[in-house]
Amino acid sequence: MSRVLIKEVRPYGDGEAVDVLVDGELIAEIGADLDVEADEVVHGGGGVLLPGFVDLHTHLREPGREDTETVETGSAAAALGGYTAVFAMANTDPVADNAVIVEHVWRRGLEIGLVDVHPVGAVTVGLGGEQLAELGTMARSAAGVRMFSDDGKCVHDPLVMRRALEYAKALGVVVAQHAEEPRLTVGAQAHEGANAARLGLAGWPAPAEESIVARDCLLAGHTGGTLHVCHVSTAGTAEILRWWKSRESAGTVSAEVTPHHLLLTDELLSTYDPVNKVNPPLRTDEDVRALREALADGTVDCVATDHAPHASQDKDCEWSAAKPGMLGLQTALGVVARTMVEPGLLDWRGVARVLSERPAEIAGLADQGRPIAVGEPANLAVVDPDVRWTVRGAELASISANTPFEGVELPGRVLATVLRGRITAHEGEVRR
Ligand code: DOR
Ligand code: ZN
Repeated sequence: MSRVLIKEVRPYGDGEAVDVLVDGELIAEIGADLDVEADEVVHGGGGVLLPGFVDLHTHLREPGREDTETVETGSAAAALGGYTAVFAMANTDPVADNAVIVEHVWRRGLEIGLVDVHPVGAVTVGLGGEQLAELGTMARSAAGVRMFSDDGKCVHDPLVMRRALEYAKALGVVVAQHAEEPRLTVGAQAHEGANAARLGLAGWPAPAEESIVARDCLLAGHTGGTLHVCHVSTAGTAEILRWWKSRESAGTVSAEVTPHHLLLTDELLSTYDPVNKVNPPLRTDEDVRALREALADGTVDCVATDHAPHASQDKDCEWSAAKPGMLGLQTALGVVARTMVEPGLLDWRGVARVLSERPAEIAGLADQGRPIAVGEPANLAVVDPDVRWTVRGAELASISANTPFEGVELPGRVLATVLRGRITAHEGEVRR
């Protein structure tokens, strides 16, 4: 059993720096100037120690688009970004709508060992939106699927969604909805507003998201099934969630916001650069403000990256032909620091809540998002909150380079990540 000594860190950014001794898979000792032997030392330099991050929304592209990302390269990006668990979305090719595919992804994650890879199962066969996939078989498979989503597409048929939530209740799993009423987004290319109109791009109106979220809250309440709302992007959705969660009989509804929806707006349409194309689209300043507030007050539970790698030929092309999606795993912490910590909307305890504790609770992961305390599993991220760094897509671990933050300076960087007592990333290098 190896011992790792993490020197001079402030758990949750509070108080004086302490040392943390990790023995095997657990935190063994926490105290000032620990005088102990260890196999490896991580120098925290007075930085912040957080529980390892949990991403409920990652696209790893395996199987099918290994030219854009694999479980291996996505795991590396995750480890470098401070993540100790990620949920790999089901819109692969073939779709992860059966036990064979989810077990393949899960096994690859285990073999690579840089981050816990939890496959998300599709809700419907082939993401077709019509026939429920075998949720029970996937839930009971070796992969132990606990989250189901047709992400990329909306489960738009209300009866199919109702049945999915009923199964979810029976199986004790979560349905994560990509909320987009398809009849309202036919041909949509960008947020419906003045900027899209000026460029002649078909609009993606806010009610296409909000109507599905409202409907699904009602269905979750009615069925008792657990709903998670993916990538909330509008002020109206935040309002609906706030209203719904204030009701006594609200049941179990949670929601995530992406880093890009916390920072970027549809003003970027003027660049006409498809790196800024994403689904749901970048919205307005007012939406960004509302999303930050909703994350700060818990209306939106957590941050999830929607890390969506794409090949250069699918991004370096005209806007309408480009695929939607952005990288996120290695920039999430920096964007959260910039949008939430710097303006005083969240302290580091709050960051632990939105990047680790809440997502772990939502997905029912018993060993993630745990308190930093003796006897707890050593899933940890060491963060230097003071360093500022400039994002370079070509330097990220992903195969793809489609970051909307190219050349942007972000505060806060992950110094080291520890997964069950093993260092998975240290000073920008992955430890395989
Ligand atoms: O921008 C997006 N990209 N939104 C989605 O819902 C899917 C994702 C992808 O798979 O590329
Ligand atoms: Zn989505």
